[in-house]
Amino acid sequence: MIKLNLQKISGTEVLPLAEGGKGISISTGETCGAWAAAGAVGTFSAVNADSYDKNGDAIPQIYHGSARSERRRELIEYAVAGGITQAKIARERSDGKGRIHMNVMWEMGSCEEILTRILEGSKECIHGVVCGAGMPYALGEITSKFGVYYYPIVSSARAFSALFRRSFKKAQDFLGGVVYEDPWLAGGHNGLSNAENPAEPVNPYLRLVDLRKTMNDFGLQSLPIIIAGGVWWLSEWEDYIGNKELGAVAFQFGTRPILTTESPVAKAWQPKLMSLKRGDIKLTQLSPTGFYSSAVNNKMLENLLELQERQAAIVESSPLVVRVFGREVCVDPSQSEKITSWIANGFSTAMITPDDTVVFVTPQQAEQILRDQKNCCCCLSMCRFSSWCSHKESTGKIPDPRSFCIQKSLQAAAHGGNLDQSLVFAGHTAYRFGEDPFYENNFIPTTRQLVERIASGY
Ligand SMILES: Cc1cc2nc3c(=O)[nH]c(=O)nc-3n(C[C@H](O)[C@H](O)[C@H](O)COP(=O)(O)O)c2cc1C
Ligand code: SF4
Repeated sequence: MIKLNLQKISGTEVLPLAEGGKGISISTGETCGAWAAAGAVGTFSAVNADSYDKNGDAIPQIYHGSARSERRRELIEYAVAGGITQAKIARERSDGKGRIHMNVMWEMGSCEEILTRILEGSKECIHGVVCGAGMPYALGEITSKFGVYYYPIVSSARAFSALFRRSFKKAQDFLGGVVYEDPWLAGGHNGLSNAENPAEPVNPYLRLVDLRKTMNDFGLQSLPIIIAGGVWWLSEWEDYIGNKELGAVAFQFGTRPILTTESPVAKAWQPKLMSLKRGDIKLTQLSPTGFYSSAVNNKMLENLLELQERQAAIVESSPLVVRVFGREVCVDPSQSEKITSWIANGFSTAMITPDDTVVFVTPQQAEQILRDQKNCCCCLSMCRFSSWCSHKESTGKIPDPRSFCIQKSLQAAAHGGNLDQSLVFAGHTAYRFGEDPFYENNFIPTTRQLVERIASGY
């Protein structure tokens, strides 16, 4: 039996268990409030969160502006309204218990403005802000102004050290803890650095010890490390609890809460999640953010990975010439046979990539790629798919047809779209839904039942 002591998180003693924030619209005010009501830490996602009409239906986020800058303003207004809506729901459902955290992605478009305005509109509902995907140097300064705790998500001691030295040390009072997210196992975007091999996971214990040493060097002994990524049964993490080398730890669950009665996607995602086998979650670098990410391997990922295969290098001169939207481009002649076969199989449209290559897609795929790029609503600070960049309006690079519009795809996965054709983020232990007796006969627990189960060690 696991012995879990209550722990002070964002100013109150709670169970050391946290819901992982999940955008878009997977962790919501409902799920977050239920985690808090169970005496733990709930986290709603403020990444393009939903608002509702008077019938309680999610308002579709449709963009009317013809210029990207206009659609960007529309996105900000949707995001602020959605974040405030979810914060208020979380507060109501929590019954004043537990803690309510909000998750934002630092590299989402206009993060600083959206975060500030949501806190302005609902700071009495929010106890902490959890932020990953990027280096959130300004996070502490922003949340401290509102008296709200902040939690950077890092995947290495080095990243935390850089954040602390450069900025967090000036906003120490509201640093609530550090989320360590295993970059090989966690669902969603992953913080693998260029020096790390995606195919060679590293023991999290050693990296956590490293992080704790770094935190202690900064005088942060009392702050918890919240361990995320690959945590399923706490009985498997007993050695980490009450461990002197690690100090105070809590655990964050991203994938398990997807199947709870409060989760908006539980029913739609259940058949997919229950059918997964070990290895069915893929760690790829397809996201337009440029980060690695972990998602269910489905038709959409397969198509994108196949598209990468149908790629040929552009060369200065060559007898092999392809037409790219009317322009002639010389390509590597050694690819001649493959290109002939791609074209014969319908992949007859060539598109240039920012890496001096061309990829071959069907005319329908090309049309869809161009349409998605044109409809960009600037959801990221930098997007390799559309070449949008917040600072200069463009990265100056060619839009990359090998990626995709993550906004469109995650919105679809959360709102009843085809799960084979949308991005279904999940952690690498998601296959355990199908093996864990807790979920037998397609049982979907309430959040309270899940929290009690987790606290029991299973
Ligand atoms: C569907 C899904 C969406 C996610 N979206 C986000 C997100 O928007 N922001 C974030 O910081 N983490 C996100 N995550 C990561 C989780 O918050 C959590 O840290 C991670 O899933 C933990 O690993 P686990 O899935 O093995 O439990 C997401 C994870 C999943 C499964
Ligand atoms: S194209 Fe890129 S920046 Fe634009 S909405 Fe899609 S994912 Fe976001």
